[in-house]
Amino acid sequence: MTDKRIIGILTGGGDCPGLNSVIYGIMLKAFDSDTECIGIIKGWKGFMENLTMPLNIAEHDDLHTVGGTLLYTSRTNPFSSVAVAETEEKKKELEEKIAKEMAGKFDDLGIDALIAIGGDDTLGVADTICKYTDAKIIGCPKTIDNDLLGTDYTFGFWSAVQLASNSMDNLTTTARSHQRIFVVEVMGRDAGFLTIYSGISSGADIILIPETPFNLRKHVIEVLKRRVRAGHKYHIIACSEGAYPSDESLKRDFETISQETIDKLPKDTFGNPLLSKLNMSQILVSELRLNEELEKEFQQNNTNYECRSVVLGHTMRAGTPNSFDRILGLRLGLAAMKLALENKFGMMVSLRGNDIKSLPLAEGAKKKYVEKDSDIVELRNLMIKIRYKSREI
Ligand code: F6P
Repeated sequence: MTDKRIIGILTGGGDCPGLNSVIYGIMLKAFDSDTECIGIIKGWKGFMENLTMPLNIAEHDDLHTVGGTLLYTSRTNPFSSVAVAETEEKKKELEEKIAKEMAGKFDDLGIDALIAIGGDDTLGVADTICKYTDAKIIGCPKTIDNDLLGTDYTFGFWSAVQLASNSMDNLTTTARSHQRIFVVEVMGRDAGFLTIYSGISSGADIILIPETPFNLRKHVIEVLKRRVRAGHKYHIIACSEGAYPSDESLKRDFETISQETIDKLPKDTFGNPLLSKLNMSQILVSELRLNEELEKEFQQNNTNYECRSVVLGHTMRAGTPNSFDRILGLRLGLAAMKLALENKFGMMVSLRGNDIKSLPLAEGAKKKYVEKDSDIVELRNLMIKIRYKSREI
């Protein structure tokens, strides 16, 4: 190893706009501090398999403006075998063994320290390694879902909200022309931040998120009935990919799915159920199409009864970061590199208000959800209700 300090950088989990901005922020400070950066390819997979690429800042002018990640990404979980260990004791032993093996990789990779950029899964791996070893790791929070406890907002979130909001704004013209109900599925497996922010931003008529399980009868059918009676001719339903009905409603109101359907869903490499495979927007469309009573109500109010689903999916993660996410990414990258220079490891950088702060990975690398009693949920409820109530005679 040369005398120059060498920092490895990896990006894990789903990509999002702003990842390259963080990488560039790290590189800017590193270059100015006589530190070399090495890219580790495909997240923890590359870390385990020694897959690296040189990062020469001279070759990457304005990298912060480019979407996606230069370093590629994967959802590889080095600790995946821990979940199937038989006892808690065995789980702990295995976890410690893997953590030590992972810490040993620093020498193989020729790095002094690592900056891991990722969501709760990627940062959870970093935290577990730090729990058992003195590995020099710093975390940087990333996810378009914004569901990470250790930061007020993640970069990429506002770019994705804007994309979803624009799509829903645009869909209103075709919805209006055909007098249709559009169910728009928005990314967000476990948390509804993307759906509720983009739904409110574009004025969606019904907004369904995982944190508040919906009652098909009350929150969808009844609202549509009252809306059509109040004179509305088209309807946009923003539905989080992780939105699901309450147990009571699932049993009582659904004809096309049951609890068994949800239990049988495949899991990702971190063991999370792949709710996106459920295709909730399509299920809702199927349920609505079967609802003769609602169809009659639409006909009596001289309105077409037609439903379509649109899955925004990966279009929400695509493209360039907006200015907010570029700046946030750069600031987080700069702060992560500064922590490395100050030898403050086992920490993650974070946005708190307008300031960039840091906190232990063990505290911040956890999931966050939309709070049921937050102003954003109150706004959603008010907007949906007042649209039909204010027009009722
Ligand atoms: O990274 C978060 C996320 O975009 C979720 O909103 C979504 O459920 C998931 O990733 C999709 O993952 P993939 O790109 O692996 O299909």
